[in-house]
Amino acid sequence: MIGKLNHIAIAVPNLDQAMRLYRDVLKADVSDKIDLPDHGVTVVFVNLANTKVELLYPFGDRSPILSYLRKNNAGGIHHICYEVENIETARDELLEQNMRILGSGKPEIGAHGKPVLFLHPKDFCGTLIELEQV
Ligand code: CO
Repeated sequence: MIGKLNHIAIAVPNLDQAMRLYRDVLKADVSDKIDLPDHGVTVVFVNLANTKVELLYPFGDRSPILSYLRKNNAGGIHHICYEVENIETARDELLEQNMRILGSGKPEIGAHGKPVLFLHPKDFCGTLIELEQV
């Protein structure tokens, strides 16, 4: 069902510091900041040869990553995203296997403009998983 690793999302408490770390210490290709108000995050992409790391910083006071940062003061891995060919087929197969989908269970347009779903971390080894249709 899952294909490539699309990205690893890391929530950070200080975006400038995280950008400096990836750009100046790790010498990676780091994008500018991109505000995504609809998703409550400011994102910076770290482009690697085989995948991306996304640095996530809260945008607004209803950001979905605020509670994560409250519990993880230094930041941490927030979710990982796997690619799927068809998100509705993937969802139906997961539901048949009693896996829980977060939210309404309907795919929503994610931060990259493509349909995404999030899977319950308790069903997947304590890891929040995003599925993205590519
Ligand atoms: Co993501």
